[in-house]
Parts: sequence; C-alpha cells; structure tokens
Amino acid sequence: MYEKILDEICALERKCGEILKNADRSNVGEESKGGHGNLVTKYDKMVQDILEEGLKEILPEAVFYGEEEDIHADISKGYAFIVDPIDGTTNFIMDANYSAISIGLVKDLERVAGAVYNPYTDEMFTAIKGQGAYLNEKPIHVSKRDLKDSISIFGTAPYYAEFGHTIFRLAERYYDASLDIRRYGTASLDLCMVASGKAAVYYEQRLSPWDFAAGSLILEEAGGIVCDFNGDPLVVNKKTSVIGANKQSSILNME
Ligand code: IPD
Ligand code: CA
Ligand code: CA
Repeated sequence: MYEKILDEICALERKCGEILKNADRSNVGEESKGGHGNLVTKYDKMVQDILEEGLKEILPEAVFYGEEEDIHADISKGYAFIVDPIDGTTNFIMDANYSAISIGLVKDLERVAGAVYNPYTDEMFTAIKGQGAYLNEKPIHVSKRDLKDSISIFGTAPYYAEFGHTIFRLAERYYDASLDIRRYGTASLDLCMVASGKAAVYYEQRLSPWDFAAGSLILEEAGGIVCDFNGDPLVVNKKTSVIGANKQSSILNME
C-alpha cells in the first residue's frame, strides 16, 4: 500500500539531492538559529519548501512537519510527513559530503515508511513497516557481531551543550566496550549505518523527530532494536534520546 508513496518520496529526495550537490559553495547563506552550533542555510529552507510542495501532491491529507518551520503542526492523528531537509547541516556547510535528506511517514504517530538519501554517495535507504529495509533496493540487515568486535557511533547532541559531560563519559565507555567510536554528524545516516551492519550501535542523548523518524524505522526493519535511553519505545512528536543497535550488542547502562 505504501510502495507507490515511497517511490515518489525517493524521487523527490533525489531531485533535492541534486540541489545539494550543486549548491553554490561561495554562498550557502549560513545563519545561526541560536544556542550552541545550531546553524541553518538557505539550502535547508529551499529544500524544505520543495519537499513541502512535492509531498502535498503525493499524499494531500498528510500534515507536513519540517525542521525549518517556525511552528510545527499537531501530528498526533492521521498521516504526517516528518522531514529533515538537510540532516547534517554542519557537514553541509563544511562541504564534508556527508549529509542526508530524511522523510518519515507516520500514521497516528506510528512510523509506516521512511527514506533517507545520501546524495553524495547516491545511497537511498528505505523501509516500509513490516516489509524489511533496503539500500538502493537491496535488502539490508544489522550485523551479527558482538559490540566488542564492532564500531560504536555516537552523536554529541551539539545544540544542548549542557549534555557535554554525560555524552563524553558515555562515549568513553563505548570506546572501552567496542573496537572504536565514530562521530559522523548526520543522525539519520548513523541509524542507517547500524541498519546496514557497518556499526553495532548508535546513540544520541537528544534528537528531534525529523532526525530519527525515517532512520529508526529503517533500523528496526533491518532487524535492529530502537528505543530511548530508558528502554522505552520512541515517540515521534517530541525530542528524545535515541539508541539503535543490533541484537548482539549489550546496550550500556546510560546512567
Ligand atoms: C543534527 C545531525 C547531528 C546530530 C544532531 C542533529 P541537523 O541534525 O543529525 O548528527 O548530532 O543531534 O540535530 O541539525 O544537521 O539537521
Ligand atoms: Ca537533523
Ligand atoms: Ca536539518
């Protein structure tokens, strides 16, 4: 039932991916949103506008819920598109070629479909609830490696400097418990890294729905476990801690 919608979402993400790859690097229109390291560019806004218009045509009854809106709609009932026009804005500003476009479709707050696209590698991660996860249409699965034989990925929740101490304490524990740690800077792709078996675990102390709506479904559909730091299911209309892992990995106590 969601196949056609997902195909259309992917086409839209590919179109926006071209815009990011061809961005005018001499003027990305960078501005601060306030707080620690929280930036936006004219491309975040431009891509969000294109997605809003395009998604309206794909499923007119769905509410749009995008990161760069000033006011967010209530998405507790019915369909909603949860959209991050550029996940990894700081990477985008730094010309680091590691950002994504992330679109999750939810119905009554349940994640039903999602697509995360990395235009720099042309990797399209997708999932429909109950139908597995895919990378460029090939099935993907979490790894079977134990945490001690795997990489751990973490996010620094950069816009919440007050978490710095706990984040780095936890990172040190994951460093001890695994082969090594990584911090890539794009939450949706971090979740997809675990989904495609390249890391055993990813965790971040505070994410917004647009960071994880699509990637968390992709990870679950790839056979992984996703929850908040208390072990509770993710709720897609509020900020939350997020941990996603393969089944072999012990999730370290977050205290
Ligand atoms: C951020 C990135 C980053 C993560 C932050 C997110 P943005 O999203 O996903 O990896 O650490 O928590 O907010 O602001 O670039 O869309
Ligand atoms: Ca984001
Ligand atoms: Ca963003």
